[in-house]
Amino acid sequence: MKKVIALGGSNSKDSINKKLAVYAANQITDSETIVADLNEFELPLYGIDLEKEIGIPENAIKLNEYLEEVDGIIISMAEHNGSFTAAFKNTIDWLSRIDQKVWKDKPMLLMATSPGGRGGATVLGTAIASFPFLGGKVIADFSLPSFYDNFSEVGLKNDELGRALDKKIQDFQATI
Ligand SMILES: Cc1cc2nc3c(=O)[nH]c(=O)nc-3n(C[C@H](O)[C@H](O)[C@H](O)COP(=O)(O)O)c2cc1C
Repeated sequence: MKKVIALGGSNSKDSINKKLAVYAANQITDSETIVADLNEFELPLYGIDLEKEIGIPENAIKLNEYLEEVDGIIISMAEHNGSFTAAFKNTIDWLSRIDQKVWKDKPMLLMATSPGGRGGATVLGTAIASFPFLGGKVIADFSLPSFYDNFSEVGLKNDELGRALDKKIQDFQATI
C-alpha cells in the first residue's frame, strides 16, 4: 500500500492548513496517511553555531525518516506576513542539514489556505519556486481562499473549488 505524508506548515494546534492537508490525503484511495504535526517535531531555532554544539536534533532525524519512507508528500502552508511560518522554515532548514534534497525527489501536492481572500497564494508561489531546489517534484498546487467560508471536512462548500481540488488530488495520486 502507498504511503502519503500530510503536513501542515504551521505549529498552530488548530491549524487550518493541517486540516486541509489531512482532508486532501484522505481523498486518496488505497493509501495510508501519516499525519505529521509540526508540534510533534519541535525544533530549536536553527543556527550554525547551535548545530556545531548539539548536532542534528532527534526530531529532525525522525521527520527526515518519515519523508524517506513515503511515496508522496502533501503540504498545506500557512502564510505569515507573505512567507513561510517561522516554525515551517526552521524545520526545512534543519532537514536541509541532513539531506539537501529535503523532499527527496518525491511527488508533492502543495497547498495553502488562509481566512483571507488570497488563500496564502504568496507563500504557495514561494514554495513552488523554491522547493525544486530542495528535491521537490511539484505535481500540483492549490490555494483555498476564505477557509472558513469554503472548507468542510465532508467536501469543500464551493463546488467549483471542490472540483478544482479533486482534479489536483487525482493528478497527484496518479504519480505516487
Ligand atoms: C504573524 C501572522 C502573520 C500573518 N500573515 C498573513 C499573511 O501574510 N497572509 C494571510 O493570508 N494570512 C496571514 N495571517 C493569518 C493566517 O493566515 C491565519 O492565522 C491562519 O489560520 C494560519 O494558518 P494555520 O491555522 O494553519 O496556522 C497571519 C497570521 C499571523 C499570526
